[in-house]
Amino acid sequence: MTATATGRPRRILVTGVGAAPGLDVARRLMALGCEVIAADCDPNAIGLRLPDVTARVTVPVREPGYAAGMLRLCAELRPDAVVSTVEQELPGLSALERDLAVLGTGMWLPPLPAIEACTDKARFAEVLTAHGIPAPRTVLPDQLGRAPDGPLVVKPRRGQGAKDVIYCATRVQAAVLCELVHDPIVQERVSGREFTADCLVDRDGRASVILRLRLVVKGGLAMVSSTVCDAEVERQVKAVLTATGLVGACCVQGFLREGSPHRIVITEANARFAGGFPAAEAAGADLVGQYLSGLTGHSVDHDRLRYKPDVRLTKSYETLAVTEGITP
Ligand SMILES: Nc1ncnc2c1ncn2[C@@H]1O[C@H](COP(=O)(O)OP(=O)(O)OP(=O)(O)O)[C@@H](O)[C@H]1O
Ligand SMILES: [Mg+2]
Repeated sequence: MTATATGRPRRILVTGVGAAPGLDVARRLMALGCEVIAADCDPNAIGLRLPDVTARVTVPVREPGYAAGMLRLCAELRPDAVVSTVEQELPGLSALERDLAVLGTGMWLPPLPAIEACTDKARFAEVLTAHGIPAPRTVLPDQLGRAPDGPLVVKPRRGQGAKDVIYCATRVQAAVLCELVHDPIVQERVSGREFTADCLVDRDGRASVILRLRLVVKGGLAMVSSTVCDAEVERQVKAVLTATGLVGACCVQGFLREGSPHRIVITEANARFAGGFPAAEAAGADLVGQYLSGLTGHSVDHDRLRYKPDVRLTKSYETLAVTEGITP
């Protein structure tokens, strides 16, 4: 692995640059002095238009050519590392770990059971329940009779980006929605204040957790978030990281329900950077920088992951690029 003057890997392939996590990881890496290869399977992905990246359209993860395409891309451009922001490709990438290492390309992925626990929302609910961590009651379509009475959520078992997350009021409505949503789960709808924990877990299992409230959420992305310190939430988030076995960059999401017997309910963990992670960076946490240290086998400096509370980050929609003619 070649490195910048700071000892960081130099050229990094970021996958999933069509959505906020990949786009912002690519930007942050460039700010840290890395060269970025921006990749996405959609030729219209926003991050392919970022200035100063090498843009590549990749084979979709569900297509048979995915693995060969990834190896070809790495053989051609020789990135020092791959940073994935696409959960569904993590098992496939994990299987390529050795072949990529031969090409000089490193990765920092959690073990397969941890990947499975975070990409399958039914499995995630099982793991949390087994560890006594409060999670929304979750059932598969053929267990609808066991769904709670009251507000429900129907969503894809293996979704990302809040796609096809639909709210409803009754089991009868949920049954209809299960016909419309691919491979769905049905979940108790939780109310309260939503939070995300941006996490970095080092190779010894020590975790830094940066908490933020999601004040405005649009299309699954926290457009406005504000950092907060809360020892009880931090403890619960760390319990989730231990229960799932996550390492590296990841995020945990949940709700705060003041006055309820379970104040904290955990809805999700993702084995990747969260879309709103720039709020953690703005509050002082060197999340991407320390991730790069861990990726290269160096120690993670948890002192550099401390953060200030009440730092509010507001995102907006903007015009990124105007191009003419046929672009890939
Ligand atoms: N059980 C629930 N109760 C209340 N709201 C929910 C529930 N499940 C999901 N949501 C809402 O839908 C959003 C997306 O849900 P979830 O995180 O499960 O899906 P995702 O596709 O994995 O999204 P992401 O890419 O943000 O991880 C949540 O941030 C939350 O606002
Ligand atoms: Mg998710």
